[in-house]
Amino acid sequence: MTDDKIDGAALDGVAATCLWTLRNRAEESMHPGSAFHDPLAERLYGRIDYDYERFGKPNQTHPLRALALDVAIRAYLDLHPAATVVALGEGLQTTYWRLGRPGVDWLSVDLPPVIDLRRRLLPREPRMAAVPASALDRTWMDALDPARGVFISAEGLFMYFERDQVMSLIAECAARFPGGRLFFDSIPTWFRNRTMKGYRMSARYTAPPMPFSLPVSEAARLPAQIPGVATAEDLQPPPGRKAWRSRTLRKIAALPGPRDLRPSITLLSFAAHHGR
Ligand SMILES: C[S@@+](CC[C@H](N)C(=O)[O-])C[C@H]1O[C@@H](n2cnc3c(N)ncnc32)[C@H](O)[C@@H]1O
Repeated sequence: MTDDKIDGAALDGVAATCLWTLRNRAEESMHPGSAFHDPLAERLYGRIDYDYERFGKPNQTHPLRALALDVAIRAYLDLHPAATVVALGEGLQTTYWRLGRPGVDWLSVDLPPVIDLRRRLLPREPRMAAVPASALDRTWMDALDPARGVFISAEGLFMYFERDQVMSLIAECAARFPGGRLFFDSIPTWFRNRTMKGYRMSARYTAPPMPFSLPVSEAARLPAQIPGVATAEDLQPPPGRKAWRSRTLRKIAALPGPRDLRPSITLLSFAAHHGR
């Protein structure tokens, strides 16, 4: 990692959204009193010249989601130490370094301009490989050994896909990686509808359309709908600061009505063996 500044304007469309989530993690990491610490994200943020203000004010959604992912990966690696972690739509995540498990095999999958930026800006690691292609193009699956265990993350990705694309991707992951896990997050349907009309995050930025939403109650039905999906867990992010700490709000967020109106994080586990 050198110290030259890189122009983030090389990313556009959905690829540019990784600068939004990076900004939110880095700002949270720099915030006094935060439980989220990611010095590499802070450095990366400082290295990329970009009009970050266009994303509006930073918030805690993305750092807390990242902490939830850290917990889920650690739990899986404790059971399957030889497993590979696959980060679909990895953007400028620095999860590998935050985990502090340098021995884990890691596969990054993202669009070519994003993988190029990762190569230029992040430290090279012998256990890390990258596939510069769409997550919907199944070639990344061929690089994995299912017998060793596979943990797939898709942070901030599925909302940009169509429903059929998400469902068939989940089904194929369940079929090809028995005993594996899939971590993904979703937006509620009211928010999906807003993005489809053009959601302005600031005067200078409109978020890309997000056609896929999945309310918590629907995510709970995935095991009954997709062969090989054994369980679906609704993960609450760890407590953050201020409103993100409130026990009352967390209790409300778990109630049957309100839970379908908030963003969600789902952890699927795949059956060890299943017939198709
Ligand atoms: C909101 S960003 C999230 C980035 C990262 N996961 C994070 O949480 O910071 C969405 C990411 O999905 C990537 N992406 C969009 N479509 C993709 C596709 N078809 N295949 C792989 N990655 C894709 C974008 O390039 C971008 O990095």
